[in-house]
Amino acid sequence: MAKATKVLGAAIAALAMTAGARAAELTVSATLKADQPGAPISRYIYGQFSEHLGAGIYDGVWVGPDSKIPNVRGIRADVVTALKDIHVPVIRWPGGCFADEYRWRDGIGPRDKRPSRKNNWWGGSPETNAFGTHEFMDFAEQVGADPYVSINVGSSNPTEMREWIEYMISPGEDTLAQERRANGRDKPFNVPFIGIGNESWGCGGEMTPEYYANEYRRFSAFFHKNDDNKAVRVGSGANSFDVNWTDVVTRNAGKQMDAISLHYYTIPTGDWKKKGAATGFDKAAWGKTLAQTLRMEDLLQKHIAVMDKNDPKKRIGLYVDEWGAWYDVEAGTNPGHLYQLNTLRDGVVAAANFNIFHRYTERVKMTNIAQTINVLQAMILTQGEKIVLTPTYYAYKMYVPFQDSTAIPLDVVAPQIDVGGSKIPAFNASAAKGKDGKTYIAIANMAPDDSLKLSVALGALKAKAVSGQVLTADKMDAMNAFGAKPVVAPVAFKGAKLSGDKLTLDIPSKSVVVVAVE
Ligand code: AHR
Repeated sequence: MAKATKVLGAAIAALAMTAGARAAELTVSATLKADQPGAPISRYIYGQFSEHLGAGIYDGVWVGPDSKIPNVRGIRADVVTALKDIHVPVIRWPGGCFADEYRWRDGIGPRDKRPSRKNNWWGGSPETNAFGTHEFMDFAEQVGADPYVSINVGSSNPTEMREWIEYMISPGEDTLAQERRANGRDKPFNVPFIGIGNESWGCGGEMTPEYYANEYRRFSAFFHKNDDNKAVRVGSGANSFDVNWTDVVTRNAGKQMDAISLHYYTIPTGDWKKKGAATGFDKAAWGKTLAQTLRMEDLLQKHIAVMDKNDPKKRIGLYVDEWGAWYDVEAGTNPGHLYQLNTLRDGVVAAANFNIFHRYTERVKMTNIAQTINVLQAMILTQGEKIVLTPTYYAYKMYVPFQDSTAIPLDVVAPQIDVGGSKIPAFNASAAKGKDGKTYIAIANMAPDDSLKLSVALGALKAKAVSGQVLTADKMDAMNAFGAKPVVAPVAFKGAKLSGDKLTLDIPSKSVVVVAVE
């Protein structure tokens, strides 16, 4: 739990045995400090990442203007509608590892003249380049999201970067701006975020932090941050607990940097060779997955500590621009396409991470889950003309009120439970004042069997009404299926009771609950 969190309530587990499974009700007290508002929670905490990988872009976003699947200029209408509904604030593109091999010129001009390349990182699949700069910008504009473009450092040079940026954002009469106009876009594109390399320690060039810091400085010299190009420059950040990377890069190149990224994936077993299944898992796998995902908190603390040393004024943002659960691919699918199903467990994983991010927003200004559609912990899966919205999607939907809210301290300590051999806190929670003036409290109940009675002392908050939603299901690996009514989708939460300055929440096991207090 966060440093600020202190023990205010005793956790009493009132054990009640039910037929077969061990089920308990945990009784926990919490205190809301509504009169002590904290840092703003940026909407960019709820960002997405969409790479040219498997069916992430092709089929997932792009079907082409001649497709029988309803589309707007080649972009799936159903996907755009769904993403608008969760208010996606930013989309990172074109990679990932793909970004450091991407040649932006391949993806502009008449589509029938664009070259076809091999996607070397992801299954060797053909990359037709039908989806390039204009199509991505159109996608982001249709969704209402800001574009975050990752440029190629590993196999390219500062000239390529400068020209791509100029092509996208120049308002002038120069040749690159004219070329953009000739390709159908008069006004400059809005490009508020530009990543300078991706995983430069690995697929982005196998660099040492010292070498990357020098490269970053060289690229940044030709970035030309000015009135036309106001983009946030995002340095390629560390692989999970490699704090030395963050230390060296922010120390040696921090002056030229506005943000640095951080990648951390939840691998249930911790073993990249045998990560664990996305469905059909047991309680031990649930426990391991949640234990691994909760390491995000320790990870943030460690990276923030070195950033605080090198950048005490907190000018440089920390962008967790790749995170999420990574399981073994579904049997029979291309291992390079990273296609996995998505269950209730993933909805709880997402919410548990949101509750962590909310505590570090003085430094954590953006996160991007990997990845939006058909890849890793996806919001949406597609199958021909059908789509399915995943439990992760619904967690994002429930947390929309936290976008651009102000954090409110919620003092609570969760009892530790043993889930199939993993010790995890039974739940985590966060609170904030939304833009609409309501106070929101969110809880991820990570206990697969135990329900939770949470009594919240509301203190300065004079509440008249409470309403909310709950995401749960009867099975840990319940998921939504194509062509069927979703079984894991938020429904009205009936477990909230207000009495005076106390709010009591009766929260089911393995669930996500968000309530609005007004
Ligand atoms: O999200 C899949 C891959 O994971 C990305 O391409 C890469 O940056 C990371 O290793």
